[in-house]
Amino acid sequence: MSRRAFEIAVIALALSLGRAEAQNSPTSRSVWDSTYTAAQATKGETAFRYSCANCHALAQFSGPSFLGAWEGGSAQELFHLIREEMPFDNPGTLPREQYVDILAYLFKLNGFPAGSRPLPGEPLELKQIRIQSKPEAK
Ligand code: HEC
Repeated sequence: MSRRAFEIAVIALALSLGRAEAQNSPTSRSVWDSTYTAAQATKGETAFRYSCANCHALAQFSGPSFLGAWEGGSAQELFHLIREEMPFDNPGTLPREQYVDILAYLFKLNGFPAGSRPLPGEPLELKQIRIQSKPEAK
């Protein structure tokens, strides 16, 4: 494992330790509450192809293994990792809006519904969006 890959693993662990807090927030909603627009996901797909697909197969970011790793985390945690660490060879170089669009695309890949409200770029708002593999039982 390279040093950066190790750092990423450490960040992921630290994030998982902070999860209980995000879950207990009274205003929190989940990725099932239509948190992004279809237009964002479309732009995100283009950005992903250009900036991420060289190193990552789509399969890495959808399905049980991905959701298993992020289940119970917040959108902010995933956003933070992508924005601070990716692209691996050139971290933090995309405009913030493109990182948000890519996150929307990852949500789409995982079958989370799109809606009329755009995914916010603000950390405090992203923190309110819980990642979970299934909608809340109503
Ligand atoms: C130059 C190669 C490279 C590029 C380009 C790149 N990554 Fe990565 N990425 C890596 C490596 C290496 C790791 C750490 C090992 C791993 O998990 O694959 C990683 C890890 C990740 C992780 C955490 C692992 C997981 O499955 O949760 C995410 C999320 C991620 N990258 C997203 C992106 C996104 C989004 C982009 C485009 C903005 C991107 N990467 C561009 C090489 C790259």
